[in-house]
Amino acid sequence: MNLLEKSLRFTRAREAQAAGYYPFFIPIQSSSGAEVMVNGERKIMMGSNNYLGLTHHPKVLAAAESALQKYGSGCTGSRFLNGTLDLHEELETRLAHFLGKEASLVFSTGYQTNLGTVSTLINRGDYIFMDKLNHASLVDSTRLTFGTVCRYAHNDMKSLKRQLAQAPHDAGKLIVTDGVFSMEGDIVNLPEMVELAETHNADILVDDAHALGVLGEYGGGTAQHFGLGEKTTLIVATFSKSLASIGGVVAGPEPIIHYLKHHARALIFSASMPPSAIGAALAAIDVIEEEPELRAALWRNTRRMQEGLKSLGYDIGDSETPVIPVLMGDIGIMAMQWRTLFDAGVFTNPVIPPAVPHDSCRLRISMMATHTNEQIDYVLDLFAQGMKLRAAM
Ligand SMILES: Cc1ncc(COP(=O)(O)O)c(C=O)c1O
Repeated sequence: MNLLEKSLRFTRAREAQAAGYYPFFIPIQSSSGAEVMVNGERKIMMGSNNYLGLTHHPKVLAAAESALQKYGSGCTGSRFLNGTLDLHEELETRLAHFLGKEASLVFSTGYQTNLGTVSTLINRGDYIFMDKLNHASLVDSTRLTFGTVCRYAHNDMKSLKRQLAQAPHDAGKLIVTDGVFSMEGDIVNLPEMVELAETHNADILVDDAHALGVLGEYGGGTAQHFGLGEKTTLIVATFSKSLASIGGVVAGPEPIIHYLKHHARALIFSASMPPSAIGAALAAIDVIEEEPELRAALWRNTRRMQEGLKSLGYDIGDSETPVIPVLMGDIGIMAMQWRTLFDAGVFTNPVIPPAVPHDSCRLRISMMATHTNEQIDYVLDLFAQGMKLRAAM
């Protein structure tokens, strides 16, 4: 089948568009964070990873603008050559400190950070142990390695233990996991994972995309949440969520970071983070440190939404965090509920196969510190109506 034929055979998206149930690539006309304009109508944003609401914080906006004026709109080159600014290095020093590590390296996206880190560190003869529900960027990173990839059942330490036991004791081993799982909202069982890693001579990489600024006493993420920073060799995070920007970081021992700096193709063969994005990320770290009340508000809002949904009879799986999947099972029911919410002014994210199994379609809600109680209660009212409709069907 040639490329055109293959593309023409893909009709599902066009069918959904024709039926008015197409929930993707919706253009947002303007945003104030917790509220956005779509088709000239206001929608409550319940699908953004803007956990602390910092995309519109005055300090973040001012820092982005000031970096834009000082360095221009882009770096037009790789970190390796002409694309390193003193700001990149400032951000790396800042993040290493914030994450409690010796050093860090900044990439242009979180996706590239995972691709570059895992594919560079795992060579032929090494083993990589991946949670089955790890983020796609981690899955894709293993496609670029010659190491042996072992996938264990989701957050199941018995399954991980069995896999570790089968690998040669002296082989290089890296356990790779999301800190907060992006589709489930549950937290990795890091304490047991650390014990297993010690017994089996393995290193751990935690992808804290959804945990940075959210978990931990100071927002330092999953390792800080469990007090296990020393036992977690590498922490990866993105700036596209709590840090209200774009870019990614890997933090860990200085020799590993130095090695990555000189070998990671996703770093060396791609242009560096733009100045305004670095300025925004740096200011976001300042705000996280200066305004812990934002994290407290995020957790208050998270509890209100989780408890509200549960009391209405919705299944939110094992979510313990601001990532709240509302499990619907069947794609038809999910599409209907998405549409009802959208028409009533609420923006949520539908999650369908292949991101999740066929019987596990869901609406994913992501809470923000800047949601108001009125907004949350309005959304819960709509979910209450949805439950009544479902019962009547
Ligand atoms: C767990 C996880 N890792 C990595 C990424 C990729 O980050 P970025 O959006 O910065 O490329 C995401 C983004 O959705 C994520 O959820």
